[in-house]
Amino acid sequence: MSNVQIAPSILSADFGNMAEAVKNVARWGGDIIHCDVMDGVFVPNFTFGMPMVKAISAHSSLPLDVHLMIVEPERYAAKFCDAGADIVSFHPDASKNVAKTLDIIAAKNKQCGLALNPDKPLSLVEPYIDRLDVLVIMSVFAGFGGQKFIEESLLKIIEAKKLIEKSGQDIKIIVDGGVNLENAPRIIHAGADILVAGNAVFGAENPAQTIKIMRQAEKK
Ligand code: DX5
Ligand code: ZN
Repeated sequence: MSNVQIAPSILSADFGNMAEAVKNVARWGGDIIHCDVMDGVFVPNFTFGMPMVKAISAHSSLPLDVHLMIVEPERYAAKFCDAGADIVSFHPDASKNVAKTLDIIAAKNKQCGLALNPDKPLSLVEPYIDRLDVLVIMSVFAGFGGQKFIEESLLKIIEAKKLIEKSGQDIKIIVDGGVNLENAPRIIHAGADILVAGNAVFGAENPAQTIKIMRQAEKK
């Protein structure tokens, strides 16, 4: 049996009906709720901040995975933990002090992660590998839902898997961007543990069935 987890991204949900969207993710059998936080500076788009994460948390029985696409995440990491995040990931190239930001998240007893855009090498996360719970491989450039999966990401997932194995750490690989039913088996075979899916789930005729099928590909 595959032990892959599916993390629907509420970026693709109806923002006017967020409580219902969050409850739907649980009803549909999602494992984790992925929350995309964008500041209009690190990425050319805005979404929401701590109050929304807190509101989502109040309606969710599932773990919240907060993906920070903001500059200097060290300024807000603790606040997102307090708002109800269970996993907090940020982009190392957005931070003035990656180690300090990881410290802040770990001190709150939350899982921490680093996220890499498609043009950022794994060498950026290597110095911190012993401190990570998750590694987010972006398979689109962060900023928008509904983009096309970048196929080269598969090689990066394979390399990330090797790096993690070499480190001997228990680090889950999250793949984020353009994941759908067609490419999910390849992504899982490459080594993904958690698939983020926005449009593929919220745009599906049958989201529950989509989540179930997406999870089905066996890992090698
Ligand atoms: C992109 C976000 C993704 C996005 C994924 O910046 O980090 O989490 O919501 O959406 P889809 O699955 O539609 O590409
Ligand atoms: Zn994301």
